[in-house]
Amino acid sequence: KKVLFVASESVPFIKTGGLADVVGSLPKCFNKKEFDVRVVLPNYTCIDEKWRSKFKFITHFYMDLNWRKQYVGILEYKYEGITYYFLDNEFYFSGPTPYGQIYEDIEKFAFFSKAVLSAIPVIDFRPDIIHCHDWQSGLVPVYLDNFRYGDEYFRGIKTVMTIHNLKFQGIWDTKKVKDITGLPAYYFAPDKMEAYNDANYLKGGIVYADKVTTVSNSYAKEIQMPFYGERLDGLMRARSGDLVGIVNGIDYEVYNPEMDKSLAKNFSPSTFRKDKVKNKLALQKELGLPEDGKVMMIGIVSRLTDQKGFDLIEHVMDELCNDHIQLVILGTGDEKYENMFRHYAWKYPEKVAANIFYSEELSHRIYGSCDAFLMPSLFEPCGLSQLMSLRYGTVPIVRQTGGLIDTVDPYNEYEKTGTGFAFLNYNAHEMLATIRYGEMTYYDKKRQWNLIVERGMKQDFSWEQSAKQYKDLYESL
Ligand code: ADP
Ligand code: GLC
Repeated sequence: KKVLFVASESVPFIKTGGLADVVGSLPKCFNKKEFDVRVVLPNYTCIDEKWRSKFKFITHFYMDLNWRKQYVGILEYKYEGITYYFLDNEFYFSGPTPYGQIYEDIEKFAFFSKAVLSAIPVIDFRPDIIHCHDWQSGLVPVYLDNFRYGDEYFRGIKTVMTIHNLKFQGIWDTKKVKDITGLPAYYFAPDKMEAYNDANYLKGGIVYADKVTTVSNSYAKEIQMPFYGERLDGLMRARSGDLVGIVNGIDYEVYNPEMDKSLAKNFSPSTFRKDKVKNKLALQKELGLPEDGKVMMIGIVSRLTDQKGFDLIEHVMDELCNDHIQLVILGTGDEKYENMFRHYAWKYPEKVAANIFYSEELSHRIYGSCDAFLMPSLFEPCGLSQLMSLRYGTVPIVRQTGGLIDTVDPYNEYEKTGTGFAFLNYNAHEMLATIRYGEMTYYDKKRQWNLIVERGMKQDFSWEQSAKQYKDLYESL
């Protein structure tokens, strides 16, 4: 079978969050004899030149986007056995970051979605399945429905829509979207791509896709309820027969504490007890924190947004900083949280290191050096950071929501089970109490703590299981 992934980001080329990790690692996990999986991405000019210089120009054509006539260039690059296509148009894809203002993105991804379908006959790769990711490719199943009427070539192509985050839907004024997309008025109805009087790209994708997936089982259930449903819970219930949750994996070659070159000292489930601390000492030195192998170091690597529970952390920062801990943050995002962490790093220089930037290297060192990883998300479709932490023997402290429920098993000191610490209610002091339970275990019950670490490291969150579920899904179509 031939499968075409359509997405707005993918490692190693361009990444703003977990979506890129998934799109960049899942295609590699299918048996090449059974599946030819290729990926199509925008040719952003902000992709590093070290990659862009390798992309090979294939051809170009012009495409109508309603009254606009737009250039579509097609570039190709083969990387680690996967063929990537990059669709080129500098008018749309030359911003400093992949995403800009919503009104820009609305036109940008209408262009992209239509260009993907228009490029298929040109590259001569007619997929059996088009696998769309998030709202940026939500119009693909809609355009496909429209294309099918006029062109036999497109009949029989199936679509899968994967929701990585229901919060972002691509919503804009219906009249403007009609003008941008050139789609017939027929599609702008409440049972199609309109929601609450606006056009909604993700809704279009969900309505028109043959199957809908999301990135964990718990999130698949949650989004059928109003609290997590982002006003589409009714639609999610309506499509529940075609909705499946498949938990994400991570690339076990990229995230491997035994081989990782970013670390001062590599370690494994059998050597972490003596070796992992060397990474902590090196990181303390790098970040200017007191070098102390014994202090509990808590890490955060995240987009700094409300989704990730930073208001809870903000609420108890002073209390937390009066505990015997160190806190290492790596992240960018909302200015209020960037400044909040800068402030506390200034107030508690011996305890807090605020790294307000993006660094793949430093993220690996944080996963590989900290004792615990804090992720008190308000909602979490899957979450990859906790999987990376588990792999590196860094104990996740999470709120029980979405993928965090499915991937972190809360410590039970009586049954001696569990891989992390978890709390249920979105409450700052419930979080703090859970962190302190972790501190108590770390300082007073080190043997138990180390068993938690070891159990976590031995979990398998590689893609193997999940890729099999996608394979079954593809085959069911
Ligand atoms: P989300 O996709 O919601 O941001 P995930 O946990 O699924 O959350 O994925 C986040 C990914 O982004 C992880 O690979 C994490 O390591 C990475 N990441 C987030 N912020 C940074 C940063 N400032 N520097 C490096 N990597 C980051
Ligand atoms: C989204 C979600 C995150 C998930 C990622 C990859 O960004 O916020 O929970 O892990 O997509 O699926």
